[in-house]
Amino acid sequence: MTKYIGILTSGGDCPGLNAAIRGVGKAAQGAFDMQVVGFRDGFRGLMENRTVPLDQAALSGILTVGGTILGTSRDKPRRMLVGGREIDATGAIIANYEKHHLDALVCLGGGGTQKNALYLKEKGINVITLPKTIDNDVAMTDVTFGFDTALGIATEAIDRLHSTAHSHYRIVVVEVMGHRAGWLALGAGLAGGADVILLPEIPYDVEKIAESIRLRSRMGKHFSIIAVAEGAMTTRDAVGLRAADLQKQKAKTKPERKKAKAAVAHWQSRHADNTMRLARQLEGLTGLESRVTILGYVQRGGAPSAVDRLLATRMGTACADLINEGVFGVMVAARGDGTEPVPLEKVAGKRKTVPLDHPWITSARLVGTCLGD
Ligand code: F6P
Repeated sequence: MTKYIGILTSGGDCPGLNAAIRGVGKAAQGAFDMQVVGFRDGFRGLMENRTVPLDQAALSGILTVGGTILGTSRDKPRRMLVGGREIDATGAIIANYEKHHLDALVCLGGGGTQKNALYLKEKGINVITLPKTIDNDVAMTDVTFGFDTALGIATEAIDRLHSTAHSHYRIVVVEVMGHRAGWLALGAGLAGGADVILLPEIPYDVEKIAESIRLRSRMGKHFSIIAVAEGAMTTRDAVGLRAADLQKQKAKTKPERKKAKAAVAHWQSRHADNTMRLARQLEGLTGLESRVTILGYVQRGGAPSAVDRLLATRMGTACADLINEGVFGVMVAARGDGTEPVPLEKVAGKRKTVPLDHPWITSARLVGTCLGD
């Protein structure tokens, strides 16, 4: 009997989403004779029943295209903002799932999407997910698609910044995406030969960074490249934020919760200006002119790399295969050269940060990169 599957993309976009949609869709239709429908803008489109036909023609020519042909949003099934008010969209989502006689719902997303997918699984929907994000921070998968493309973009940017920093004897602080995990800053920093790499996983001391730059000057190198993850912070801020987070977890009464929330907001607001503040401080401490380059959304745009196309296609086709086998409630993880279904319970609510003994960290230290600690 023909199976019906729905696909949506949720959370921030990344290169490789279309390659994955194509992988799922082509295999589902071509190899397993399934019918495929797309939902626009993540869980919102599913709630509002806004669909896109994903027949073979719609799937043609999208392998190399950046972004997502379905559109995406950060909306959550349980708390959907409608007319300025949060509603629980679970009922509408289940109703539309049933209306389309779906046998499975494929959700392409990062950490937040895995949580939402688990929630829908618990509500009786046959969900199956693929891990995407340039941050590479989804738990239980070797890697996420999107990461390799962003790594290439950030590395090329660091390469380009090297020559101009060198010409002007400047410090260039380059901010790379990654609020909670430093994979991208570490990978691009190491590949691009940054002199300093700062990650959310390793709180930094500005004085130690300045000393490493002064040391380079004494060796006749009057410029430095600093790759900083957007979530990297000083030791002081990290301690403050951790204490505020703990306070929030322990808060029992409404006033306690309000106070703790304000404390968290205080430390997070310092976050926004971290990179600029760091550049100013280093200028003062080293006497070298400093400039900031924030790579931002450039890292999320454009065509996926060959590695991401292969990964997304591998995961997408494996996903169709699993649906055909009747395997649901799992994320299709990348494992070695293949894939592996991992129960959503093992993925949702977890984050894969950079382990402090990761080989990239070891190598960075061995080539003399300052990690700010
Ligand atoms: O895709 C992941 C990520 O790029 C993070 O590194 C970044 O902090 C976040 O998404 C910002 O995305 P948006 O502004 O789309 O919410």
